[in-house]
Amino acid sequence: MTQSNDSRKRRWNLVAEGFAAFCERWPRYRILAEHGIARLGDLTDSKILDIGCGVGDSTRVLAEHGKDVVAVDFSPKCIEYAKARIQRANVAFEVEDAGVFLKRCSAQFQQFDVIFCNAVIWQLENIEEFLKLAANVTAPGGRLLVNWCDKLTPLPLDFLADRRGSSVDKLELALDNCGWVVSDIFEVELKEQIETSSEFISALGLRRPSTVVARQLSGGEYLVRTWTFVVGTKC
Ligand SMILES: C[S@@+](CC[C@H](N)C(=O)[O-])C[C@H]1O[C@@H](n2cnc3c(N)ncnc32)[C@H](O)[C@@H]1O
Repeated sequence: MTQSNDSRKRRWNLVAEGFAAFCERWPRYRILAEHGIARLGDLTDSKILDIGCGVGDSTRVLAEHGKDVVAVDFSPKCIEYAKARIQRANVAFEVEDAGVFLKRCSAQFQQFDVIFCNAVIWQLENIEEFLKLAANVTAPGGRLLVNWCDKLTPLPLDFLADRRGSSVDKLELALDNCGWVVSDIFEVELKEQIETSSEFISALGLRRPSTVVARQLSGGEYLVRTWTFVVGTKC
C-alpha cells in the first residue's frame, strides 16, 4: 500500500524533532551535501533550490557556497527547525510540496542554476513529473543533483516499471526524457557510527512509533552505506 503525500507529510512532522536531534549528532546530510557541492564547481553566483530541505543540513552548505538559496519542505515542523538552525540572509524557506512549489514558480521560468535534492527523490509521489517541473525552472546549463542510498536500492522509480535496468539506468532514461542530460554519476561511501534506528524507519512507514532514535554503534563498529549521486545538466 502506498502512502499519500498527506500521510507522508504528517509523519515527517511527527519525526521532525527527533530528526533534528539526529542531524545534530550525526551530520550525514551535511557530509553528503559537501560531497555533492564539491562536484558542481564554483557556485558563487548561483541561485540554488534545495528540495526537501528537512531541518536544513544541506541548506547551510548550499548557502555557504551559493549566492541565494530557496529551501523547500512540505513539513512545517521540519522548516521550523531549519529556520531555527540556519539563520542566514541568503536563505528563504518555503513550506510546500515540491511539485506544488515548482508549478507555482514555473511562471518565473529558468530562474535556478542548481537544484539540490539530498536524500529525497524516492519519497516524491511522481518522480518524472518532478524532473520535468525542475527542468522548467532551471536555467540552460544549470544542474540538478539527486542521490539515494544503497539501502534503498533499487530506487522505486515505479513510473518506469515497464523498463528494465538498474536505478541509475532508469534515472538516466528519466532525466533524458525530462529535459536533462546526465553529466556526472559518482558514489560516496559513508562509514556511519550512529544509525537511525528502526523506530525512525517505521515512523515514516505505516506503523508506530513516531520517534527517531539515534543508536550509537558499539566501539569501533560502523555501517558502510553507499550513496549514488546523479547530476543532470539542463539541455
Ligand atoms: C531525509 S530528509 C532530507 C534531508 C535534507 N535534504 C538535508 O540535506 O538535510 C527528507 C525530507 O524530504 C521532505 N519531503 C518528502 N517529500 C516531500 C515533498 N513531496 N515535498 C517537499 N518535501 C518533501 C521531508 O519532509 C523531509 O524533511
